[in-house]
Amino acid sequence: MSDRGKIVETVEDLTSPVVIPVDAYISEDYARAERDKLWRKVWLQAGRIEDIPEPGDFITFDILDDSLLIVRSGPDTIQAYYNVCPHRGRKLVDIPEGARNARGRRPHFSCAYHGWRFDLEGENIHLLYKEDWQGQLTGGCTNLSKVNVDTWGGWIWINLDPDCEPLRDYLEPAAAMLDPFELQNMRCRWRKWGIFDCNWKVALEAFNETYHVQTTHPEFNKFGEFRGWARAQGKHSNIGYDAPKDMDENQQAKLRVGSGADPRISTAEMQVFTWENANTNTTQTLVDASLRLVDELPEGTPGDQVLKHWLESARRDDEARGVIWPTVDLAHVGKSGTAWQIFPNFQIGHSVNNMLCYSARPLDSNPDKCIFEGAVYQLYPKGEEPETEWEFCKATAEEWCYVLGQDFGNMAAVQQGMKSGGFKGTMPNPYMERSTANLHYNLARYMGSGAPRKLK
Ligand code: FES
Ligand SMILES: [Fe+2]
Repeated sequence: MSDRGKIVETVEDLTSPVVIPVDAYISEDYARAERDKLWRKVWLQAGRIEDIPEPGDFITFDILDDSLLIVRSGPDTIQAYYNVCPHRGRKLVDIPEGARNARGRRPHFSCAYHGWRFDLEGENIHLLYKEDWQGQLTGGCTNLSKVNVDTWGGWIWINLDPDCEPLRDYLEPAAAMLDPFELQNMRCRWRKWGIFDCNWKVALEAFNETYHVQTTHPEFNKFGEFRGWARAQGKHSNIGYDAPKDMDENQQAKLRVGSGADPRISTAEMQVFTWENANTNTTQTLVDASLRLVDELPEGTPGDQVLKHWLESARRDDEARGVIWPTVDLAHVGKSGTAWQIFPNFQIGHSVNNMLCYSARPLDSNPDKCIFEGAVYQLYPKGEEPETEWEFCKATAEEWCYVLGQDFGNMAAVQQGMKSGGFKGTMPNPYMERSTANLHYNLARYMGSGAPRKLK
């Protein structure tokens, strides 16, 4: 652990260079302490609302030793329970071997051991030989234990701390900044998960900055160089791109429009490359509209006009098939950036018509392993949303995609490198990688250790 400099005490200090001790990534004691100090205290994204559309629909969500059962108990109500039978502690709903979670529909839940049964509200409705307990099974002790649950952005969130703050308060300012993008209307195009050979923070920190793009993803360099920023937003953070004033700067940079000899052509090339090699951050409508740019616009059209024409024509194409993008004020788009990191372990790469989300959480108290998840969502015409399930994939380009394979390629190598006697702590770029500094600044408040220190 580094002993350089003073501990960072205010978020303003994160604008200066800091060093982050490695314990948070590699220490077994730290990883063990996370269960009680972190994971049992924070709001966690546990699934999508559309996964449980009808009463009786349920999913499970596991975080370390706690398995949760999330149930649609009525048309407008969702409940979450510890997935454990109060009789002798059998897990109530088994997770199928090799699956990320259980999912199904039941009128009630029966324990496989002695048959205690619970309705959708978690109340015990069947218990053999109840009289043997001599009338002392009172005070709800035979019901399922409830867990805080709420929804935002189309996701179901749970919190194991009975005294937690409301979800909305917890999520601000991210929730207010992201609400105009109407993320709740998007549906999954694909979702994959895997067990990766690195700490959950290493996995997430591969995506919470744009500093790595030039080197890890060299193919994007030919579409232009864009300078990224990262900002602390309370517990959360966001990232985006600097660009000329009065422009939809993040869109322009993220989509890499306006660079290259002919922006009509480079835009289409960038779209096709992204669609084929990442299958993220764009849609078929956007790709198709980009391929028409050379026919629809004269040679020499400046980049900002190419971007405008392209997005407007894609918006119209989608509208014609009943897919309505929300209209978001350009200044707001600029401020919102390209992705939000929701403390501690969820990233939303938002836009008006699609999004790319990542999460990572520990598998057990081994700091060198994590459960990593990636999911892409977009707007669909009503009734044409695909049915998707979590697909287990190894951390390879073959099983995910070329671009994500490039990101994954750094993860295990970072985890190994951090254990080297020659490594003195992470030194995030104060401008472009401040999300990492802010994550550890906030983690330290829960964990009581691991705060970033001033580099000097
Ligand atoms: S452990 Fe569930 S009924 Fe006995
Ligand atoms: Fe990347």
